This record gives sequence, structure tokens and C-alpha cells, in this order.
Amino acid sequence: MGKNNTDFSYQEIVVDDIIFRLYIYEILTSTNQFALDSSLDIYSIIIANKQLKGKGRQGRTWISDNEGNLYFTIVLDNNENIRTLFRLNIITAYALCDTIKDVYSVNVNVKWPNDILYNGKKISGILLEAKMEGNKLNRIVLGVGINLNADKIADEIKNRATTLFLETGEKIDKLEFLKRFLRHFIKWKNWDGDIDKLWDKYSAYYNKEISFHYNNSIEKFIEKGITDDGALIIEDKKGVLKKVYYGEIGYDFGN
Ligand code: BTN
Repeated sequence: MGKNNTDFSYQEIVVDDIIFRLYIYEILTSTNQFALDSSLDIYSIIIANKQLKGKGRQGRTWISDNEGNLYFTIVLDNNENIRTLFRLNIITAYALCDTIKDVYSVNVNVKWPNDILYNGKKISGILLEAKMEGNKLNRIVLGVGINLNADKIADEIKNRATTLFLETGEKIDKLEFLKRFLRHFIKWKNWDGDIDKLWDKYSAYYNKEISFHYNNSIEKFIEKGITDDGALIIEDKKGVLKKVYYGEIGYDFGN
């Protein structure tokens, strides 16, 4: 069994004068939950080698039992507004794509809003969570799970997920990967261009047919891009364009 919550190792990574404080735990329930409940400063990063109850999007579980994979959460500024949260989701996905290209020299793509796919299979997911105080955001935490070095994948997700090691045969030091990610992340965070203009370059499905899952219904659309605040633009069979902020693209397309 793992050690308890008070037992961590500490390191710092400096990127562009920002000091990221790393708290590395053997095992936690969820790095996001830990960061949300903590009073840790901005740019603290919680890492766990394993999570007992890793959180995924839409109330799902993020399987976190392989310490070859990377599970971390960054505490971010609390002066962001809801609009910039959508933007943060997208730029984090762009930063992950750039990091993976940088480290492994392979191309990966984004499945809206922020799954990272390698040849159509998921290798990374992002979960941005915020605590509210009245109608103000009080704490924003950015959680990332990346299937890096694991040499196997859980049976229940085998058909739609993979790991970078399984695909490339390469293993990487987790903290080295994190360091490279932070450089790309800060580059994107400081960038003030329009995120929607770059979507066609990063998206896995731009101008392709997708199955869109929303409120228990599934419908086919063509993906036409995103808006500058992160909504997905989809075109129905009649050529009518819609903007969607919630829901997701299924993995069932093409199967
Ligand atoms: C998704 O469903 O795609 C999002 C997955 C996010 C998983 C990461 S792992 C580190 C951090 N802590 C959590 O509990 N979840 C996120």
C-alpha cells in the first residue's frame, strides 16, 4: 500500500522566471482533488505515481494504477474567468501535442475539447476544475493524465486508448516530460493569438464526420472548427452550423 499524504518529495522547475513547485507523492486519491482542497500557491504541481480514484471528464474514472504514466495537477491563477477556462483547455491540448512531437517526433491530434489522440486512440486527457466562491472563481486546477511509459493498457479501454511507449517503443523520464510540457504550456499561456485559427492544424477530425454525443443522444455532424472561446462548430446534414459547448465526440466513428 502507498505512503500517506504527508510523505512527498519536493523539486522545483523554473520556466521563464516562473518557479513551479513540485510535490511528488507515491499515491493519492486524485491529484486534482488534492489541489482543489489544498491552499497551495499558484504554480504548485501535485504529482502522484498512482491515484486511487483518478477523475476523468463527465464524472468518469481515469484509470491511474500504472506508475509508468504521468498524473499531475497544476494550481493556476484564480483571476481567470469562465471564458478563459475554455481557452485554457484548448491551449493545454496544443501544448501537449507540441510536447509529444518534441519528445517523440510523432504527430498527435486533439479530439474536442481536449483529448489527445495517437492514430485515433487516446493517450492523454485533461481535466480543468474550479472552485467557486459565490459567483467568483476561487481556485483553478489543471489536471493532466498521460499514458507515457506503461507497457500495457487496461482491457476495458484497449480499443480506444494506448500509451506512447506501446506506440513508439521509447520510455522517457516523467519529470523530463513534465519539464518540456511546462515550457510549451507557458509559451501557449503567454500567446494572445486566436486559438480557433490553429484548430485545423491540431484537430483529429477537422472537416470530417463525427458522432456527437450529447444528453444521451448521438448524431452525425461534420466538424467545422472551434470558436475563439473554445466551443465546437458542427454542421448538420442540412448544412446548418451549430456551436456546442458541452457534449463530446464519440470514439465510435469509423468502427
Ligand atoms: C479525461 O477524462 O480525459 C480527463 C482525464 C484527466 C486525468 C488527470 S490524471 C491527473 C489529474 N487528477 C485527476 O484526478 N484527474 C486528472
